[in-house]
Amino acid sequence: MQETSSQDVTMITCTAPVNIAVIKYWGKRHEELILPINSSLSVTLHQDQLKTTTTVACSRHFQEDRIWLNGKEEDINQPRIQSCLREIRRLARKRRSDEDLSNDISLAHRVHICSVNNFPTAAGLASSAAGYACLVYSLSRLFGVDGELSLVARQGSGSACRSMYGGFVQWKMGERQDGKDSLAEQVEPESHWPELRVLVLVVSAERKLVGSTSGMQTSVKTSKLLKHRADCVVPGRMEEMISAIQRRDFAAFGELTMKDSNQFHATCLDTYPPIFYLNDISQKVISLVHRYNQHYQDTRVTYTFDAGPNAVIYTLEDHVPEFIQVVRYFFPPETNGGEFVKGLPVGPASLSEDLKTAIGLEPVPKGISYIISTKVGPGPCVVEDPKLHLLNPEGLPKKST
Ligand code: DP6
Repeated sequence: MQETSSQDVTMITCTAPVNIAVIKYWGKRHEELILPINSSLSVTLHQDQLKTTTTVACSRHFQEDRIWLNGKEEDINQPRIQSCLREIRRLARKRRSDEDLSNDISLAHRVHICSVNNFPTAAGLASSAAGYACLVYSLSRLFGVDGELSLVARQGSGSACRSMYGGFVQWKMGERQDGKDSLAEQVEPESHWPELRVLVLVVSAERKLVGSTSGMQTSVKTSKLLKHRADCVVPGRMEEMISAIQRRDFAAFGELTMKDSNQFHATCLDTYPPIFYLNDISQKVISLVHRYNQHYQDTRVTYTFDAGPNAVIYTLEDHVPEFIQVVRYFFPPETNGGEFVKGLPVGPASLSEDLKTAIGLEPVPKGISYIISTKVGPGPCVVEDPKLHLLNPEGLPKKST
């Protein structure tokens, strides 16, 4: 039994994943509908390490729609939240009239929404993607709506449409003015490349200076490089990336991922006034990865950076222990701090003098706060255990949330 009804309150709880793009989305051709100027492709991260959990409840006793995010009540009238609510209610109304369903949950009833992340929002990890994906998925389960839910999540935050699926996911930019063909599609499921690992190097837990939404607006207005990228570079890269993933060709996947991250940050520098998301530590991580790969004459490790200084590293299982030692050596952590590596356990490894010399960077103590070790994971899920609802039987946040 997924739904819980008590005192006329019906509720459901779901979780949704974070995704990290390897071909970046940057720039819109329509602001309200959130239609992009290029297609993009991402890897869905495992929810054991990074996820949003959302409970949605509805009742004839609720006076108004309300939302609590990470323990604080927020304004439900934010346009992007309203777009998601409106679209889900519209789909539910359509389905009921099409199928002539008499339903237990009235669409006139107000909803209460409560959402938490299992990672710090300020860590600069794609929290809006997991957040909107989870909101849309939970509402769809509550109102019994199926169909193209990525179209709805897209209207919350562009990158959120890719968090509606597990594994490797593309967001096809589409051509239509109404955005009906701008949707996410799974390229391969999470089981496709079991050796692939993801390490999130948390460089700084500061909030980003320029948010993605406003940053990309300025880029679209001022950067000729961005237009060139969208028109002439990304279409070919999408094909190459899909093929590299299908062939599980890490060298091709890795090289393209680094080049695309670098081009995205180049368009940020080409924006006027320029936007800087990478800091000194990010640049050191970039050098470290290239020198590591150079030493082995093989692309074993790849980096990508979103709108912030944290590095996301993709590599294969066998290389994780040694690479973690490299990071530990060049960014010595605080000895009395919490655990340096969180998430999936990492085995021991030793570092050869040859490798240290080949990398040859000056160590930066505490340059990296911690590492989240994770892998590819599934899409949104329903939480079956009613004890895990974030709202109490009256539809208000439980004390701990
Ligand atoms: C750099 O999806 O956060 O992470 O659509 O305005 O909400 P909005 O932007 P958002 O942008 C994400 C940008 C990125 C690249 C990516 O995830 O593809």
